[in-house]
Amino acid sequence: MPSAIITGWGRCVPPAVLSNADLETVTDTSDDWITTRTGIKERRISHAEVSDLSTVAARHALAAAGLEPGDIDLIVVATCTPDRMVPSAAATVQGKLGANRAAAMDLNAACSGFLFALATVDQMIRTGAMRRVLVVGAEKLSYWLDFSNRATCVLFGDGAGAVVIEASDEDGGLLAFELGSDGTAGNLLRVPGSGTEGAPGVKDHPSILMEGQEVFRRAVTAMGDSSARVVEKAGLAVADIDLLIPHQANARIIDATARRLSVDPAKVFVNIASYGNTSAATIPIALSEALDDGRVTAGANLLFAAFGGGFTWAAAVYRWGERVTPLGTSDAALAPSKATALELLAPHIALHGKGI
Ligand code: ACO
Repeated sequence: MPSAIITGWGRCVPPAVLSNADLETVTDTSDDWITTRTGIKERRISHAEVSDLSTVAARHALAAAGLEPGDIDLIVVATCTPDRMVPSAAATVQGKLGANRAAAMDLNAACSGFLFALATVDQMIRTGAMRRVLVVGAEKLSYWLDFSNRATCVLFGDGAGAVVIEASDEDGGLLAFELGSDGTAGNLLRVPGSGTEGAPGVKDHPSILMEGQEVFRRAVTAMGDSSARVVEKAGLAVADIDLLIPHQANARIIDATARRLSVDPAKVFVNIASYGNTSAATIPIALSEALDDGRVTAGANLLFAAFGGGFTWAAAVYRWGERVTPLGTSDAALAPSKATALELLAPHIALHGKGI
């Protein structure tokens, strides 16, 4: 049976920065509250759609793997904010890339989506069904921001990360994973009106509603406990983990999860200050940055953990291969835009009114 190895990685974050100081002008908040309660200093707001962010991240991942779009068998885009429901973001990416041999589908497990996609694709490659797969985590959560709800509008941002996964004879890849869901508590984090529920034609613009404290508590428990189980399932001890790359929802959730697991804080990758919560995109963006920063070494044991709407959670142990540098680079970029984050968000601010 072949192993399934990550051979390429890339990311795309849009240029417009929304700082905590910007948020102070549109909702009743402060840089001090956001920084101390969440660890977020700024986030990116996209002028482009999820398929654009995904396509740019994918081109970087393909170049890093030394592959062309036509080499890919399957494209999976993990997202809960596709450009539209039909066609899927993945099919749009397939068209934009010209990946003419690839099947394409979206996967929605909210913030856990990238790990759900990674586990699914790992199994498809191990059985021999697929050989080369592009997995993207991408979101445009700014579409759902409601500036009259200060408890959620400060948390989220936009971006995409991508990996290429290939069948290989090398040892390594996913050593163990666990996926979980609890739909009975789904109401605690939801986007009403973002699908077909309700009467046609009377929907408000959807926005994120969340019982923050309860989500916080469940996130720490689920990420911590599922991580402990996958480390054991992989035949490792927590001390064998070289780098924990958690979903970036709140720096305090990350700290509490690391404490629950007894992971040394120096072994935890945290970039939430720069991007906020980009849902399914946080882990692939973080992985790509960790590789660029030299934080992933040959043979490293990586631990991934995520929690999100649904509820969904996932944890996985991945043993990195030999190569930690890209085979090639790409100059792919989004169409240029000079719009500021507040200019891009003006329609949202007009729709919901300022929260101050
Ligand atoms: N600025 C200033 N004050 C605020 C803000 C803000 N942006 N937001 C809330 N407050 C106030 C509240 O009104 C409250 O004031 P009060 O005491 O006068 O009533 C006070 O701060 C405390 O509010 P809490 O909700 O108790 O704040 P908490 O410390 O729990 O932090 C937060 C809120 C950041 C949302 C936190 O609960 C959290 O991170 N939850 C988890 C989020 C998460 O993990 N999401 C993951 C999945 S997301 C997805 O799947 C798409």
